[in-house]
Amino acid sequence: MRDQIIHLLKHHEGYFSGEEISRKLNISRSGIWKNIEELRKEGYSIDAATQKGYRLLNVPDKMLAREIKDGLLTSVIGQDILHYDSISSTMEKAFALAVDGQKEGTVVCAETQTKGKGRMGRNWNSPSGKGIYVSIILRPRLSPAVVSQLTLLSAAAVCAAIRQATGLEVTIKWPNDILFGKKKIAGILTEISAEMDCVRFVIVGIGINVNTAPTQLPEHATSLKSIASKKISRVKVLQAVLNTFETEYREFTDKGFKPVIKKWKELSSTLGSRVCLSDQNGAIQGEAVDLDEFGGLMIKQDNGIVIKRMSGDVIHV
Ligand code: BTN
Repeated sequence: MRDQIIHLLKHHEGYFSGEEISRKLNISRSGIWKNIEELRKEGYSIDAATQKGYRLLNVPDKMLAREIKDGLLTSVIGQDILHYDSISSTMEKAFALAVDGQKEGTVVCAETQTKGKGRMGRNWNSPSGKGIYVSIILRPRLSPAVVSQLTLLSAAAVCAAIRQATGLEVTIKWPNDILFGKKKIAGILTEISAEMDCVRFVIVGIGINVNTAPTQLPEHATSLKSIASKKISRVKVLQAVLNTFETEYREFTDKGFKPVIKKWKELSSTLGSRVCLSDQNGAIQGEAVDLDEFGGLMIKQDNGIVIKRMSGDVIHV
């Protein structure tokens, strides 16, 4: 009922009379009042004037499921959204939910994470109310060996969505960092539960620095607000991410990995750059010349030999 009341108030100029809301939603006047009180507790600012009715003044700056769903164009991704004010990590929550059978497309999001996880065992800084911290449950029919394809798909979807929502020319650094210039804007972490030859589920975790202050970020990172010099709607960016993700995921399911590689290449700043890749075997330098058909990075060393890597940390040098 609260969702319906907010929807009515949002799409109405000026005051909406209690009588009309009551008729439209088939609810008593006292029922409306109780729901309005609940909505105010959630942070909505709603004016109530005798003889006139109700008017929505402000929506809370939170990633509420109701706000994210209002304007979402998807049919799978984000149909179920769980929102937490504070959580240890959306990855852990989504993983536990997936083990319990939660359906594909479920999104877990939080205002802050006390133990946000980054790639390679790092932490992900998650200041409250500033960034997007979400995990998506996927149940793809894939062999575990090719799950890294979903990592590249996620990077292409997040990069395209940020471009679409903000107009900023962000790019992908292999395999799945989103940069503006040389500074990191967003990161993606993929976790998997699998048997030998089949994936049970995949959790894609996305962290985006949206309105994060420079003092809350490491030196090598920046936020959309810092670049655009204005506050950015986290809800709008997340809606774009979920919409784009679903389109890309559907195309991947129908047509395979080739279209993903094509989009990834169009959005990447790694190919053609001189890079240094470090992994457990040490560091190699050279020009990033191409991606192979599995998403591995091909690096042409100064001696002309091309080496392929499936994982590692890349720096554009
Ligand atoms: C990276 O190191 O670049 C990956 C960062 C991934 C961060 C996101 S925030 C939402 C989700 N929950 C986590 O604990 N981590 C991912």
